[in-house]
Amino acid sequence: MRNLEHIKSSRVYGRRQGPALPIIRQDRLDKWLPQIGITLPPPDDSHLIAPESYFSPPLKDYWLEIGFGKGEHLAEQAKSNPNVGLFGCEPFINGVSRLVDFVDEQNLTNIRIYTDDARLLMDSFPDQSISKAFILFPDPWPKARHHKRRIVSEGNIIALSRILKDGAELRIATDHMEYCRWIMAHMLDNSDFIWQCEHPDDWRKKPDDWPTSRYEMKSLEQGRISSYMRFTRCPRRP
Ligand SMILES: C[S@@+](CC[C@H](N)C(=O)[O-])C[C@H]1O[C@@H](n2cnc3c(N)ncnc32)[C@H](O)[C@@H]1O
Repeated sequence: MRNLEHIKSSRVYGRRQGPALPIIRQDRLDKWLPQIGITLPPPDDSHLIAPESYFSPPLKDYWLEIGFGKGEHLAEQAKSNPNVGLFGCEPFINGVSRLVDFVDEQNLTNIRIYTDDARLLMDSFPDQSISKAFILFPDPWPKARHHKRRIVSEGNIIALSRILKDGAELRIATDHMEYCRWIMAHMLDNSDFIWQCEHPDDWRKKPDDWPTSRYEMKSLEQGRISSYMRFTRCPRRP
């Protein structure tokens, strides 16, 4: 059953709309969103929706990126993994438009987009239906009174734990040291996940199959240091 409490309390913090899109990009968005955009059933319909139902024919695995920004990472992953269905959540419509440009230009057929709060999409998926998830450079909301706006939150960690398969990977990156500590503390506190760290500098390096996102590029240009965290969903006990 979908989590109806989340539907009632769902709220997106931050921008949904930037400057008006050029006509050509607005036309692309209008063409593609009806085909690859996700519309969830109304709140009184509590049925879960399997990821494979969004793809015909179904694909091998399903991955999820929360807050894809302008979609560089998601598009790269889609290109490198044609057998995987990629779900991207992003409420900022100008960012969605950039991802749609990639879809159009690169003929990517394995992307589906949800343009609202990622919690609502997560709540619509069945248990153990997602094989990999990414949260890259989430807004840190540094003021203590704004911490409840953070995407990596206790509630969302529980939601991810539910939908991730045994052995699934969760990747999180940030260049905000206090948020990094906060994420680590919350993730290590959750016995559903283990941190994949073998060497002391592992969290400063990322594997080759982790494309650079726009925010990460900006952060590098400005000389900030990022942390790349990888967690594994522990197998459920029988
Ligand atoms: C700092 S940006 C990082 C964007 C991208 N991941 C990157 O690395 O370039 C954080 C993104 O999270 C998105 N976001 C914020 N709240 C969200 C929510 N509830 N669900 C999905 N995305 C959200 C924002 O719109 C923004 O694009």
